[in-house]
Amino acid sequence: MRVFIVLIFCVYYSIGVNAKTGHLVEGERDELDLIAEDDVLLNNNPHLNSVDGLGDSHEDVCAHHHCGAGKECVVNELNKPTCACVKKCLPEKDERRKVCSNHNETWDSYCEVYRMRCLCKEDSEECSRRKYRHVHVEYYGACRELQECSEEELADFPRRMREWLFNVMQDLVQHHELKGYYAKLEKEAEKSISRKWVNAVIWKFCDLDTHPEDRAVSRHELFPLRAPLVVMEHCISTFLNQCDANNDKMITLTEWGVCLGLEENEILDKCAAVRRKH
Ligand SMILES: *[C@@H]1O[C@H](CO)[C@@H](O)[C@H](O)[C@H]1NC(C)=O
Repeated sequence: MRVFIVLIFCVYYSIGVNAKTGHLVEGERDELDLIAEDDVLLNNNPHLNSVDGLGDSHEDVCAHHHCGAGKECVVNELNKPTCACVKKCLPEKDERRKVCSNHNETWDSYCEVYRMRCLCKEDSEECSRRKYRHVHVEYYGACRELQECSEEELADFPRRMREWLFNVMQDLVQHHELKGYYAKLEKEAEKSISRKWVNAVIWKFCDLDTHPEDRAVSRHELFPLRAPLVVMEHCISTFLNQCDANNDKMITLTEWGVCLGLEENEILDKCAAVRRKH
């Protein structure tokens, strides 16, 4: 359990917090583009960026132009920044950079997967298989045989997840990463046992629901939560899939709350308040 908390906490730090700096891309609104542009792994990690000798002027024009996963900013003839498929990803020797796709194929890096996806969407000759139009990273690390999630483990999962969410929330407040309304929710949770899980569960939903902010969480919006956990927490995928009770590929606040074991009267939409005060 301890490992679980620590790991997820790190993950939250590396991905979740950075999501607050989000800018929306213009033009094509592929959900994945929206997710990935916030992804600290793409923006701040030199290993995952493309190999491109960028001159100063290029950097100026492109400085505030964010591109989605597998894309990079290029300057067009009008000296305007636009997004294009990454020309070449940094060659990756490090095993730990490998990722496993939804086709259960191991790729060298996150960059390679989304570069291919981009090329295939553009019908480029470099697209090696049509199915890669829909390729995405399922989890970090090479593909492996994942342990099956037993019924008992799955039954216990909501409890573990609630506890973890509360711990993450608490840690974020202690590190001053959660302020204002969020922090108030956390204080309220600390004071009352009955609010404890409830506030943490609702906060996490609001936190995930950003691309777009529509009170429903898609598979892509779940990515930052799921991908880093799949290997260590083998029930997470099964659990999240079953949260989508009506199987429409979107998890509503009600579905999320029920899935995490809240009572119906506890599932209140607090997201609007969260954002207004933010
Ligand atoms: C995915 O690939 C790994 C490694 O090649 C293999 O061990 C595993 O059984 C595969 N999983 C599925 C569901 O096919």
